[in-house]
Amino acid sequence: MPSVLITGANRGLGWGLLNLYAKDGWRVFAGTREPAKAKELNDLAAKSGGKVTVHKLDVEDHASIDALAKELKGQPIDVLLNVAGYYGPKIVSEPGGLQDFGQSDYADWDKIYRINVMGPMKVAEALIENVAASTQKKIVTLSSILGSVGGNDMGKMYPYRASKAAINMVMKCMAIDLAPKGIIAIPIHPGWVRTDMGGPTADIDVDTSVTGMKKVIAGLKPSDAGKFMVYDGSTLPW
Ligand SMILES: NC(=O)c1ccc[n+]([C@@H]2O[C@H](COP(=O)([O-])OP(=O)(O)OC[C@H]3O[C@@H](n4cnc5c(N)ncnc54)[C@H](OP(=O)(O)O)[C@@H]3O)[C@@H](O)[C@H]2O)c1
Repeated sequence: MPSVLITGANRGLGWGLLNLYAKDGWRVFAGTREPAKAKELNDLAAKSGGKVTVHKLDVEDHASIDALAKELKGQPIDVLLNVAGYYGPKIVSEPGGLQDFGQSDYADWDKIYRINVMGPMKVAEALIENVAASTQKKIVTLSSILGSVGGNDMGKMYPYRASKAAINMVMKCMAIDLAPKGIIAIPIHPGWVRTDMGGPTADIDVDTSVTGMKKVIAGLKPSDAGKFMVYDGSTLPW
C-alpha cells in the first residue's frame, strides 16, 4: 500500500488531496497544526480503519517537525506532499491584498518565508530517510505561478511571490541533490483555486486542482525532476 504525508491536511487543497488519496486506499499521514480542532479530518481518520492518521505538525515549529520524524522513523513515505502555505493577512482579492510596493510588513514577510520556504525544506530534511525507503520516492511542494520570474508581467505581491520563487529554487536543488537516491522532487502550481487562500473569484474548484495534481504526481518520471509543473500536466517557466 503506497503512503503519502500531507502537510496542511485539514482544509483547502491539503484536505482535497487527502480525500483523494484516502479514497484510493493509500496510507495517509495527515499533518495539521491543531488536530483537536480538525473535526472533519478526525472523523475521516476514525472511519479509515487506521489507514489515515492525524499528526500534529506546525511547519513553522521545527521541534514539531522533528517530533513527527521521530514518530514516523522507519515508515516509508512514497509521496511527501508539502501543501501548507500562507499568502499573508489578506487574500489577493481583498483591499490591501496585493502586497504593493511601499506596504511591506516585515514581520509578515518573515512568517511567509518561515511557512512557505523553510517549512517545506525542514520537512524534507527531517523525513528524507522515509522517502528514500519508499517505492515511489517523490517530494512535491505546492508552489505558485506567482513564483515564476519568467511569467511575472504585473509585479506586486512581493513577499508571496518571493517566497514561491525561493521554494522553486529549493525544489530544483533537491531535484539535483536527491537524484542519486532515486528521489524525484518538483514544485507544482495548483492553479488559482477557490479555497480560503484563493478566494471565491478564483478560476477553478478544489476537485479540478487536486484531481489534476494527483494525476501529475502519479505520472512523475526521473526526467521530470526539477521541472516547474502545473496541475494540468503543463510546465511553467522559472
Ligand atoms: N488556492 C490557490 O489559488 C493557490 C494558488 C497557488 C498556490 N497555492 C498554494 O497551495 C497551498 C495550499 O493552499 P490553499 O489554497 O489550500 O490554502 P488555504 O486554504 O489557506 O489552507 C492553508 C493550509 O495551510 C495550513 N498552514 C498554514 N500555516 C501552517 C503552518 N505553520 N503549519 C502547518 N500548516 C499550516 C493551514 O492550516 P490551518 O488551518 O491550521 O491554518 C491550511 O491547512 C499553499 O502552499 C498555497 O501557497 C494556492
